[in-house]
Amino acid sequence: MPPSGENPPIVKRSRLHLGRMRKLSPEREALLAGKLPGLRVALGESESLDPATLCEPPARDVWLEIGFGAGEHLLHQAREHPECLHIGCEPYPAGVARLLACMGDAGNIRIHDGDAFDFLSMLRPSSISRCYMMFPDPWPKKRHGKRRMTRMEVVGQLARILKKNAELRIATDSGTFAGWMLANMRRCKPFVWDADRSRDWREPREPYPPTRYELKARRCGRAVMHLNFRRSGDNGS
Ligand SMILES: C[S@@+](CC[C@H](N)C(=O)[O-])C[C@H]1O[C@@H](n2cnc3c(N)ncnc32)[C@H](O)[C@@H]1O
Repeated sequence: MPPSGENPPIVKRSRLHLGRMRKLSPEREALLAGKLPGLRVALGESESLDPATLCEPPARDVWLEIGFGAGEHLLHQAREHPECLHIGCEPYPAGVARLLACMGDAGNIRIHDGDAFDFLSMLRPSSISRCYMMFPDPWPKKRHGKRRMTRMEVVGQLARILKKNAELRIATDSGTFAGWMLANMRRCKPFVWDADRSRDWREPREPYPPTRYELKARRCGRAVMHLNFRRSGDNGS
């Protein structure tokens, strides 16, 4: 695995349901062509990648964001926590280009521009200290169950790659998504829902600038829930 994806990505777009792709401006196309290759984490062998080695010296902590959209939250975390390496997964080229346009010379960001599930599968066990999912697509229809980030195979991979005491922080405006996530996390022993009172899921752990999707949800009057899980040392086996 090269330190910064020198290989082209192997993007299994057939499994992703991204809708219509907007045509990018020549400036954004140029950013993708010029800047992305140096930051890209391409797919490699299953369970082989130690993500800490994607920077020099190796990072003590690696944080991951799944589905970063336009990258506002990822960039905020990268600036607030320069001591960590921040990896974002986002298959949508317009979102990746937007992050590249805004990130300046932030040296602690890497990008996987494909399916987060494929990315999770190639990470070494216990290699991520924190994972964010900010407003994952809820896919409420039953026939779309395989696309959900709540599905058990994703939850299982998260349990494998998160370190002991690592946090999984999920924000959503979908009660259905929240219900499925809580049900599956209860089935996956290592995860503990960190919530004692309603404030724990009504407010984020730390303030952050709202993401694009969050602003839209609020404009439509939808409440936002913050589900925080801790990966205990218990494997449940
Ligand atoms: C509802 S949007 C939220 C975007 C952003 N986090 C926000 O809050 O504005 C969900 C995002 O997840 C991304 N996504 C969907 N399926 C994905 C997958 N399999 N792996 C990684 N990202 C995915 C989409 O491209 C989209 O940007």
